[in-house]
Amino acid sequence: MGKTLKFLSLFMVALVLVFGTGGEVDAKKKKKKIKLTEEEIEMLDRWEVKPKKRAKAVKDLRKKPKFVGAVKCNGSCHDPYYQAWTKSPHGGTYELLKAGVRKEAKVRAKLDPEKDYTTTPLCLRCHTTGYKQRGGFKPAGSKSKKGKDTATKIDPTEPNKEQVGCEMCHSVAGGSQFRAVMKSSKGDFTKADTEKYGQRWDYANVCTRCHTHPKTPFQPTVHDKYKFNFEERKLKVHKIADFWSEDNADQKVEKKEERAKEQGQSEKTPLVIEDFEEKGGKLKFKKGTKPYNSKKKTYNYKG
Ligand code: HEC
Ligand code: HEC
Ligand code: HEC
Repeated sequence: MGKTLKFLSLFMVALVLVFGTGGEVDAKKKKKKIKLTEEEIEMLDRWEVKPKKRAKAVKDLRKKPKFVGAVKCNGSCHDPYYQAWTKSPHGGTYELLKAGVRKEAKVRAKLDPEKDYTTTPLCLRCHTTGYKQRGGFKPAGSKSKKGKDTATKIDPTEPNKEQVGCEMCHSVAGGSQFRAVMKSSKGDFTKADTEKYGQRWDYANVCTRCHTHPKTPFQPTVHDKYKFNFEERKLKVHKIADFWSEDNADQKVEKKEERAKEQGQSEKTPLVIEDFEEKGGKLKFKKGTKPYNSKKKTYNYKG
Protein backbone atom coordinates (compact mmCIF):
# COMPACT_ATOMS: atom_id res chain seq x y z
CA MET A 1 0.00 0.00 0.00
CA GLY A 2 2.71 2.46 1.08
CA LYS A 3 4.64 1.55 -2.01
CA THR A 4 1.67 2.28 -4.29
CA LEU A 5 1.11 5.68 -2.65
CA LYS A 6 4.75 6.61 -3.05
CA PHE A 7 4.62 5.57 -6.65
CA LEU A 8 1.43 7.56 -7.27
CA SER A 9 2.81 10.76 -5.77
CA LEU A 10 6.01 10.40 -7.77
CA PHE A 11 3.88 9.96 -10.84
CA MET A 12 1.95 13.18 -10.03
CA VAL A 13 5.17 15.12 -9.54
CA ALA A 14 6.41 13.84 -12.87
CA LEU A 15 3.15 14.89 -14.55
CA VAL A 16 3.45 18.43 -13.19
CA LEU A 17 7.07 18.59 -14.29
CA VAL A 18 6.26 17.48 -17.79
CA PHE A 19 3.02 19.35 -18.41
CA GLY A 20 3.20 22.18 -15.86
CA THR A 21 0.01 23.42 -14.24
CA GLY A 22 -2.42 23.97 -17.10
CA GLY A 23 -3.30 27.58 -16.23
CA GLU A 24 0.21 28.93 -16.36
CA VAL A 25 1.01 27.48 -19.76
CA ASP A 26 -2.14 28.92 -21.27
CA ALA A 27 -1.45 32.34 -19.84
CA LYS A 28 2.04 32.29 -21.30
CA LYS A 29 0.76 31.16 -24.65
CA LYS A 30 -1.72 34.00 -24.80
CA LYS A 31 0.95 36.55 -23.98
CA LYS A 32 3.20 35.27 -26.75
CA LYS A 33 2.83 37.97 -29.39
CA ILE A 34 4.96 38.57 -32.42
CA LYS A 35 6.87 41.82 -32.15
CA LEU A 36 6.94 43.54 -35.52
CA THR A 37 10.02 45.44 -36.63
CA GLU A 38 9.64 49.04 -37.81
CA GLU A 39 10.39 47.87 -41.33
CA GLU A 40 7.59 45.30 -41.21
CA ILE A 41 5.10 47.84 -39.83
CA GLU A 42 6.01 50.32 -42.58
CA MET A 43 5.44 47.68 -45.28
CA LEU A 44 2.19 46.33 -43.85
CA ASP A 45 0.84 49.88 -43.50
CA ARG A 46 1.80 50.73 -47.05
CA TRP A 47 0.24 47.52 -48.39
CA GLU A 48 -2.87 48.23 -46.29
CA VAL A 49 -2.86 44.77 -44.72
CA LYS A 50 -5.79 44.44 -42.31
CA PRO A 51 -4.91 44.02 -38.59
CA LYS A 52 -6.38 40.51 -38.51
CA LYS A 53 -4.12 39.35 -41.34
CA ARG A 54 -0.87 40.87 -40.06
CA ALA A 55 0.28 38.04 -37.79
CA LYS A 56 -0.07 35.47 -40.57
CA ALA A 57 1.60 37.76 -43.14
CA VAL A 58 4.61 38.38 -40.91
CA LYS A 59 4.90 34.70 -39.98
CA ASP A 60 5.03 33.80 -43.68
CA LEU A 61 7.57 36.51 -44.44
CA ARG A 62 9.91 35.36 -41.68
CA LYS A 63 10.14 31.77 -42.87
CA LYS A 64 13.27 30.55 -44.65
CA PRO A 65 13.10 30.93 -48.43
CA LYS A 66 12.33 27.81 -50.41
CA PHE A 67 11.34 26.74 -53.91
CA VAL A 68 7.59 26.30 -54.45
CA GLY A 69 7.36 25.48 -58.18
CA ALA A 70 5.80 27.19 -61.20
CA VAL A 71 2.34 25.77 -60.55
CA LYS A 72 2.06 28.04 -57.49
CA CYS A 73 2.43 31.08 -59.76
CA ASN A 74 -0.48 29.83 -61.87
CA GLY A 75 -4.18 29.77 -61.02
CA SER A 76 -5.22 33.36 -60.19
CA CYS A 77 -2.03 35.44 -60.35
CA HIS A 78 0.17 34.82 -63.41
CA ASP A 79 -1.80 32.35 -65.56
CA PRO A 80 -0.76 33.72 -68.98
CA TYR A 81 2.88 33.62 -67.87
CA TYR A 82 2.51 30.02 -66.73
CA GLN A 83 0.73 28.93 -69.90
CA ALA A 84 3.26 30.65 -72.13
CA TRP A 85 6.10 29.15 -70.10
CA THR A 86 4.85 25.57 -70.49
CA LYS A 87 5.20 26.04 -74.26
CA SER A 88 8.49 27.96 -74.05
CA PRO A 89 12.01 26.42 -74.21
CA HIS A 90 12.28 26.47 -70.41
CA GLY A 91 9.04 24.55 -69.89
CA GLY A 92 10.54 21.44 -71.50
CA THR A 93 14.13 21.27 -70.25
CA TYR A 94 13.69 18.02 -68.30
CA GLU A 95 12.79 16.05 -71.44
CA LEU A 96 16.21 16.88 -72.91
CA LEU A 97 17.86 14.72 -70.25
CA LYS A 98 16.12 11.57 -71.44
CA ALA A 99 17.90 8.95 -73.54
CA GLY A 100 17.53 9.38 -77.29
CA VAL A 101 16.40 13.02 -77.13
CA ARG A 102 18.41 15.56 -79.23
CA LYS A 103 20.94 12.91 -80.14
CA GLU A 104 22.84 15.06 -82.57
CA ALA A 105 23.33 17.90 -80.11
CA LYS A 106 24.46 15.50 -77.42
CA VAL A 107 27.02 13.81 -79.65
CA ARG A 108 28.36 17.21 -80.70
CA ALA A 109 28.77 18.15 -77.02
CA LYS A 110 30.52 14.81 -76.31
CA LEU A 111 27.61 13.41 -74.29
CA ASP A 112 26.23 9.88 -74.62
CA PRO A 113 22.97 10.11 -76.66
CA GLU A 114 21.71 6.79 -75.29
CA LYS A 115 22.29 7.59 -71.65
CA ASP A 116 19.51 8.64 -69.26
CA TYR A 117 20.65 11.84 -67.55
CA THR A 118 17.50 12.46 -65.48
CA THR A 119 19.31 11.68 -62.22
CA THR A 120 22.71 13.21 -63.07
CA PRO A 121 23.36 16.03 -60.55
CA LEU A 122 25.24 18.34 -62.92
CA CYS A 123 22.50 18.24 -65.56
CA LEU A 124 19.72 18.65 -62.96
CA ARG A 125 21.22 21.90 -61.70
CA CYS A 126 20.53 23.66 -65.04
CA HIS A 127 17.55 21.69 -66.32
CA THR A 128 15.25 21.67 -63.26
CA THR A 129 14.15 24.05 -60.48
CA GLY A 130 16.08 24.43 -57.22
CA TYR A 131 17.93 21.14 -57.34
CA LYS A 132 19.89 20.66 -54.06
CA GLN A 133 18.20 23.68 -52.47
CA ARG A 134 15.29 23.90 -50.01
CA GLY A 135 12.04 22.86 -51.65
CA GLY A 136 13.78 22.15 -54.96
CA PHE A 137 13.43 19.27 -57.42
CA LYS A 138 14.38 15.79 -56.18
CA PRO A 139 15.07 13.11 -58.82
CA ALA A 140 13.81 9.52 -58.86
CA GLY A 141 15.49 7.45 -56.17
CA SER A 142 15.67 10.30 -53.62
CA LYS A 143 15.10 9.10 -50.07
CA SER A 144 14.82 10.64 -46.61
CA LYS A 145 17.12 9.50 -43.80
CA LYS A 146 14.40 7.06 -42.74
CA GLY A 147 14.28 5.60 -46.25
CA LYS A 148 11.02 7.27 -47.33
CA ASP A 149 10.66 8.08 -51.03
CA THR A 150 11.04 11.87 -51.38
CA ALA A 151 11.30 12.10 -55.18
CA THR A 152 9.33 14.97 -56.76
CA LYS A 153 6.15 13.72 -58.43
CA ILE A 154 6.07 14.56 -62.11
CA ASP A 155 2.76 15.25 -63.81
CA PRO A 156 3.27 15.47 -67.60
CA THR A 157 0.06 17.52 -67.95
CA GLU A 158 1.27 20.16 -65.48
CA PRO A 159 4.95 21.17 -65.85
CA ASN A 160 6.48 22.19 -62.54
CA LYS A 161 9.75 21.79 -60.61
CA GLU A 162 11.18 19.24 -63.05
CA GLN A 163 11.65 22.05 -65.62
CA VAL A 164 13.52 25.39 -65.51
CA GLY A 165 10.71 27.25 -63.75
CA CYS A 166 9.95 30.85 -62.86
CA GLU A 167 12.11 30.70 -59.74
CA MET A 168 15.32 29.90 -61.65
CA CYS A 169 15.16 33.36 -63.27
CA HIS A 170 13.14 35.36 -60.78
CA SER A 171 14.52 34.22 -57.43
CA VAL A 172 17.74 33.94 -55.48
CA ALA A 173 16.87 30.88 -53.37
CA GLY A 174 13.23 30.13 -54.13
CA GLY A 175 10.08 32.21 -54.39
CA SER A 176 8.09 31.33 -51.26
CA GLN A 177 8.84 34.62 -49.47
CA PHE A 178 8.28 37.10 -52.26
CA ARG A 179 5.14 35.23 -53.19
CA ALA A 180 3.93 36.15 -49.70
CA VAL A 181 4.84 39.80 -50.41
CA MET A 182 2.94 39.77 -53.69
CA LYS A 183 -0.13 38.26 -52.04
CA SER A 184 -0.13 40.52 -48.99
CA SER A 185 0.36 43.64 -51.08
CA LYS A 186 -2.12 42.48 -53.74
CA GLY A 187 0.47 43.33 -56.38
CA ASP A 188 1.14 46.81 -55.02
CA PHE A 189 4.79 46.25 -54.01
CA THR A 190 8.04 47.96 -54.94
CA LYS A 191 11.07 46.21 -56.42
CA ALA A 192 12.84 46.73 -53.10
CA ASP A 193 9.97 45.01 -51.21
CA THR A 194 10.26 41.72 -53.07
CA GLU A 195 14.02 41.96 -53.40
CA LYS A 196 14.35 41.94 -49.62
CA TYR A 197 12.58 38.58 -49.76
CA GLY A 198 14.63 37.02 -52.52
CA GLN A 199 13.24 38.20 -55.84
CA ARG A 200 15.91 39.30 -58.29
CA TRP A 201 15.73 41.82 -61.12
CA ASP A 202 19.19 41.26 -62.65
CA TYR A 203 17.70 39.58 -65.72
CA ALA A 204 20.69 39.78 -68.09
CA ASN A 205 22.91 38.39 -65.35
CA VAL A 206 20.60 35.58 -64.22
CA CYS A 207 20.72 33.86 -67.63
CA THR A 208 24.43 33.17 -67.08
CA ARG A 209 23.51 30.81 -64.27
CA CYS A 210 23.14 28.40 -67.22
CA HIS A 211 23.80 29.98 -70.62
CA THR A 212 27.55 30.27 -71.36
CA HIS A 213 28.23 29.09 -67.78
CA PRO A 214 31.65 27.37 -67.55
CA LYS A 215 29.89 24.09 -66.66
CA THR A 216 27.43 23.84 -69.57
CA PRO A 217 28.35 21.28 -72.22
CA PHE A 218 26.68 23.57 -74.79
CA GLN A 219 29.31 26.27 -75.19
CA PRO A 220 29.50 28.73 -78.09
CA THR A 221 32.71 26.90 -79.05
CA VAL A 222 30.64 23.73 -79.66
CA HIS A 223 28.17 25.49 -81.97
CA ASP A 224 27.44 29.09 -82.93
CA LYS A 225 23.82 28.70 -81.88
CA TYR A 226 24.86 28.62 -78.23
CA LYS A 227 26.12 32.21 -78.40
CA PHE A 228 24.01 34.27 -76.07
CA ASN A 229 22.48 37.61 -76.96
CA PHE A 230 20.24 38.71 -74.10
CA GLU A 231 18.13 41.28 -75.95
CA GLU A 232 17.26 38.78 -78.67
CA ARG A 233 16.72 35.83 -76.39
CA LYS A 234 14.56 37.53 -73.79
CA LEU A 235 11.85 38.02 -76.42
CA LYS A 236 11.38 34.24 -76.47
CA VAL A 237 11.04 33.76 -72.72
CA HIS A 238 7.50 35.07 -72.17
CA LYS A 239 5.31 35.02 -75.25
CA ILE A 240 2.27 35.94 -73.20
CA ALA A 241 0.43 37.94 -75.87
CA ASP A 242 -1.62 34.95 -77.04
CA PHE A 243 -2.59 33.85 -73.57
CA TRP A 244 -4.72 36.72 -72.35
CA SER A 245 -8.45 36.08 -72.10
CA GLU A 246 -11.55 37.44 -70.42
CA ASP A 247 -10.91 35.12 -67.49
CA ASN A 248 -7.45 36.38 -66.68
CA ALA A 249 -7.64 40.01 -67.85
CA ASP A 250 -7.54 41.13 -64.19
CA GLN A 251 -4.05 39.64 -63.87
CA LYS A 252 -2.32 42.31 -65.94
CA VAL A 253 0.73 43.40 -64.02
CA GLU A 254 -0.59 46.89 -63.40
CA LYS A 255 2.33 48.31 -61.46
CA LYS A 256 4.84 47.20 -64.11
CA GLU A 257 5.34 50.63 -65.68
CA GLU A 258 5.81 52.27 -62.32
CA ARG A 259 8.24 49.63 -61.16
CA ALA A 260 10.25 49.95 -64.36
CA LYS A 261 11.25 53.43 -63.18
CA GLU A 262 12.67 51.97 -60.00
CA GLN A 263 16.10 50.40 -59.90
CA GLY A 264 16.49 47.33 -57.72
CA GLN A 265 19.69 46.62 -55.79
CA SER A 266 20.33 43.59 -58.03
CA GLU A 267 20.11 45.80 -61.11
CA LYS A 268 22.77 48.12 -59.70
CA THR A 269 25.03 45.29 -58.52
CA PRO A 270 24.05 41.90 -59.94
CA LEU A 271 24.17 38.85 -57.68
CA VAL A 272 27.09 36.43 -57.83
CA ILE A 273 26.67 33.43 -60.12
CA GLU A 274 26.96 29.98 -58.55
CA ASP A 275 29.82 27.73 -59.47
CA PHE A 276 29.47 24.05 -58.76
CA GLU A 277 30.84 20.63 -59.55
CA GLU A 278 29.95 17.01 -59.14
CA LYS A 279 31.91 15.34 -56.34
CA GLY A 280 31.27 11.75 -55.31
CA GLY A 281 28.01 11.73 -57.24
CA LYS A 282 26.80 14.89 -55.48
CA LEU A 283 26.41 18.48 -56.58
CA LYS A 284 28.60 20.82 -54.54
CA PHE A 285 28.38 24.60 -54.74
CA LYS A 286 31.74 26.32 -54.48
CA LYS A 287 32.24 28.47 -51.42
CA GLY A 288 31.55 32.15 -51.88
CA THR A 289 29.55 31.67 -55.08
CA LYS A 290 26.09 31.31 -53.52
CA PRO A 291 23.94 34.42 -53.94
CA TYR A 292 22.14 33.87 -50.61
CA ASN A 293 23.69 33.17 -47.25
CA SER A 294 20.97 31.33 -45.35
CA LYS A 295 22.75 31.60 -41.98
CA LYS A 296 23.33 35.34 -42.10
CA LYS A 297 20.24 35.97 -44.26
CA THR A 298 22.24 38.24 -46.55
CA TYR A 299 22.63 38.48 -50.30
CA ASN A 300 25.93 38.16 -52.05
CA TYR A 301 26.40 40.78 -54.77
CA LYS A 302 29.21 40.95 -57.33
CA GLY A 303 32.18 43.20 -56.63
C1 HEC B 1 25.58 25.10 -66.50
C2 HEC B 1 24.28 24.71 -66.94
C3 HEC B 1 24.07 23.45 -67.73
C4 HEC B 1 24.48 22.19 -67.41
C5 HEC B 1 25.36 21.77 -66.26
C6 HEC B 1 23.89 21.32 -68.41
N1 HEC B 1 23.15 22.03 -69.29
FE1 HEC B 1 22.10 21.30 -70.89
N2 HEC B 1 21.75 23.19 -71.51
C7 HEC B 1 22.04 24.33 -70.82
C8 HEC B 1 21.66 25.48 -71.60
C9 HEC B 1 21.80 26.93 -71.17
C10 HEC B 1 21.14 24.99 -72.81
C11 HEC B 1 20.60 25.81 -73.99
C12 HEC B 1 21.73 26.28 -74.84
C13 HEC B 1 21.24 27.13 -76.00
O1 HEC B 1 20.31 26.70 -76.69
O2 HEC B 1 21.82 28.20 -76.19
C14 HEC B 1 21.23 23.54 -72.72
C15 HEC B 1 20.78 22.69 -73.74
C16 HEC B 1 20.79 21.31 -73.65
C17 HEC B 1 20.35 20.42 -74.70
C18 HEC B 1 19.79 20.83 -76.05
C19 HEC B 1 20.90 21.24 -76.99
C20 HEC B 1 20.44 21.49 -78.40
O3 HEC B 1 21.17 22.17 -79.15
O4 HEC B 1 19.37 21.02 -78.80
C21 HEC B 1 20.52 19.13 -74.23
C22 HEC B 1 20.18 17.85 -74.96
C23 HEC B 1 21.08 19.23 -72.91
N3 HEC B 1 21.24 20.57 -72.57
C24 HEC B 1 21.42 18.18 -72.10
C25 HEC B 1 22.24 18.27 -70.97
C26 HEC B 1 22.79 17.14 -70.27
C27 HEC B 1 22.54 15.68 -70.61
C28 HEC B 1 23.53 17.63 -69.23
C29 HEC B 1 24.36 16.90 -68.21
C30 HEC B 1 25.40 16.06 -68.75
C31 HEC B 1 23.43 19.09 -69.30
N4 HEC B 1 22.64 19.43 -70.35
C32 HEC B 1 24.06 19.95 -68.42
C33 HEC B 1 22.63 24.41 -69.57
C34 HEC B 1 23.23 23.34 -68.93
C1 HEC C 1 14.32 31.92 -68.44
C2 HEC C 1 14.04 32.90 -67.45
C3 HEC C 1 12.63 33.15 -67.01
C4 HEC C 1 11.70 32.21 -66.62
C5 HEC C 1 11.87 30.72 -66.57
C6 HEC C 1 10.54 32.95 -66.23
N1 HEC C 1 10.72 34.28 -66.41
FE1 HEC C 1 9.41 35.79 -66.01
N2 HEC C 1 10.68 37.17 -66.80
C7 HEC C 1 11.94 36.88 -67.28
C8 HEC C 1 12.50 38.09 -67.89
C9 HEC C 1 13.86 38.20 -68.54
C10 HEC C 1 11.54 39.12 -67.72
C11 HEC C 1 11.63 40.57 -68.16
C12 HEC C 1 11.17 40.61 -69.58
C13 HEC C 1 11.39 41.95 -70.22
O1 HEC C 1 11.96 42.84 -69.62
O2 HEC C 1 10.95 42.06 -71.37
C14 HEC C 1 10.41 38.51 -67.02
C15 HEC C 1 9.25 39.18 -66.64
C16 HEC C 1 8.21 38.62 -65.93
C17 HEC C 1 7.08 39.35 -65.39
C18 HEC C 1 6.87 40.85 -65.48
C19 HEC C 1 7.54 41.45 -64.27
C20 HEC C 1 7.62 42.97 -64.19
O3 HEC C 1 7.08 43.57 -63.26
O4 HEC C 1 8.29 43.54 -65.05
C21 HEC C 1 6.29 38.44 -64.74
C22 HEC C 1 4.99 38.72 -64.01
C23 HEC C 1 6.91 37.14 -64.89
N3 HEC C 1 8.08 37.29 -65.60
C24 HEC C 1 6.40 35.97 -64.37
C25 HEC C 1 6.93 34.71 -64.60
C26 HEC C 1 6.29 33.47 -64.23
C27 HEC C 1 4.97 33.36 -63.50
C28 HEC C 1 7.11 32.46 -64.65
C29 HEC C 1 6.89 30.97 -64.55
C30 HEC C 1 5.64 30.44 -65.02
C31 HEC C 1 8.28 33.07 -65.26
N4 HEC C 1 8.13 34.42 -65.21
C32 HEC C 1 9.36 32.36 -65.77
C33 HEC C 1 12.58 35.66 -67.23
C34 HEC C 1 12.00 34.45 -66.89
C1 HEC D 1 18.45 27.29 -64.94
C2 HEC D 1 19.06 27.34 -66.24
C3 HEC D 1 18.64 28.41 -67.22
C4 HEC D 1 18.51 29.76 -66.99
C5 HEC D 1 18.71 30.51 -65.69
C6 HEC D 1 18.14 30.36 -68.25
N1 HEC D 1 18.03 29.39 -69.21
FE1 HEC D 1 17.51 29.68 -71.16
N2 HEC D 1 17.66 27.67 -71.50
C7 HEC D 1 18.02 26.73 -70.57
C8 HEC D 1 17.98 25.42 -71.18
C9 HEC D 1 18.33 24.11 -70.50
C10 HEC D 1 17.56 25.61 -72.52
C11 HEC D 1 17.39 24.55 -73.61
C12 HEC D 1 15.96 24.39 -74.05
C13 HEC D 1 15.84 23.65 -75.35
O1 HEC D 1 16.78 23.63 -76.15
O2 HEC D 1 14.76 23.07 -75.61
C14 HEC D 1 17.37 27.04 -72.69
C15 HEC D 1 16.94 27.65 -73.88
C16 HEC D 1 16.71 29.00 -74.04
C17 HEC D 1 16.17 29.60 -75.25
C18 HEC D 1 15.81 28.85 -76.54
C19 HEC D 1 16.98 28.74 -77.42
C20 HEC D 1 16.55 28.38 -78.80
O3 HEC D 1 16.67 29.22 -79.69
O4 HEC D 1 16.07 27.24 -78.98
C21 HEC D 1 16.07 30.94 -75.03
C22 HEC D 1 15.55 31.99 -75.99
C23 HEC D 1 16.56 31.19 -73.67
N3 HEC D 1 16.93 29.98 -73.10
C24 HEC D 1 16.62 32.44 -73.07
C25 HEC D 1 17.01 32.65 -71.74
C26 HEC D 1 17.08 33.95 -71.12
C27 HEC D 1 16.80 35.27 -71.80
C28 HEC D 1 17.46 33.74 -69.82
C29 HEC D 1 17.65 34.76 -68.73
C30 HEC D 1 16.58 35.71 -68.52
C31 HEC D 1 17.60 32.31 -69.64
N4 HEC D 1 17.35 31.69 -70.82
C32 HEC D 1 17.92 31.72 -68.42
C33 HEC D 1 18.39 26.96 -69.26
C34 HEC D 1 18.35 28.19 -68.62
